[in-house]
Amino acid sequence: MPPQSALINVMEKAARKAARGLRRDFGEVENLQVSRKGPADFVSAADLRAEEVLREELERARPGYSFLLEEQGQIDGADKTHRWIVDPLDGTTNFLHGLAHFAISIALEREGQLVAGLVFDPIKDETFWGEKGKGAFVNGHRLRVTARIDLSDALIATGIPFRGQQGHERTTGELSALTHRVAGIRRFGSASLDLAYVAAGRFDGFWEHGLQPWDIAAGIVLVREAGGLVGDIEGRQPYTFNLKNILAANEPLFTPLSRALTGKAP
Ligand code: IPD
Ligand code: CA
Ligand code: CA
Repeated sequence: MPPQSALINVMEKAARKAARGLRRDFGEVENLQVSRKGPADFVSAADLRAEEVLREELERARPGYSFLLEEQGQIDGADKTHRWIVDPLDGTTNFLHGLAHFAISIALEREGQLVAGLVFDPIKDETFWGEKGKGAFVNGHRLRVTARIDLSDALIATGIPFRGQQGHERTTGELSALTHRVAGIRRFGSASLDLAYVAAGRFDGFWEHGLQPWDIAAGIVLVREAGGLVGDIEGRQPYTFNLKNILAANEPLFTPLSRALTGKAP
């Protein structure tokens, strides 16, 4: 394994610091489930606190870099060639319901190119990181996408829209096009971890509509550095943030998945 670079160290340190608060707040959520209103306000405060810690830590380590933060939006720094893309809590619904599957996602863009990504799962204590040209790792082990070539053996992750979102019928269509072709479909509720799991060979592929840069920026670096492909379900590559949906998979399954999801497979 190459030594973790100074940049990845900065990202991991920030994530671990923010995670301390998230872990503590996650412990509190259970107590709040019994109140009528539930823990929703508490969770959004936890989310904002985590974002603030991440912003402070990253700013201190790399003064002047710009930010795209889920909660605070775009913040231009003196250095517009570098931009941190941050989701302080990816998997909010899980967190809110006491489900231990959520993550902090941090990516760095340099001159519009994603150059580093880190996804930290504070409960399982897994740090997934990738750096352009240097590979992707989890807790020191190199990540590789799976080598499966048959859709029928593949385990695929996705995201399903919820109240207030669009695309409910499209989702039904995609699921019915795929369920009888694959070994299984999972909806775990954290897009950054879905992509990290594709990179780690736990899932063979992932697709979802309507995600935002902070949900996927770090995960995209992980999948690419683990040897996978990232584009959209029409098969367009490479992925850019103006595409309306994302498809990530190992190389042999990328096109079969794209064809199945768009109704082109027989
Ligand atoms: C959400 C998660 C989820 C995806 C949603 C995202 P959040 O992010 O990544 O898996 O299906 O569309 O909004 O709101 O928990 O940060
Ligand atoms: Ca998110
Ligand atoms: Ca979030």
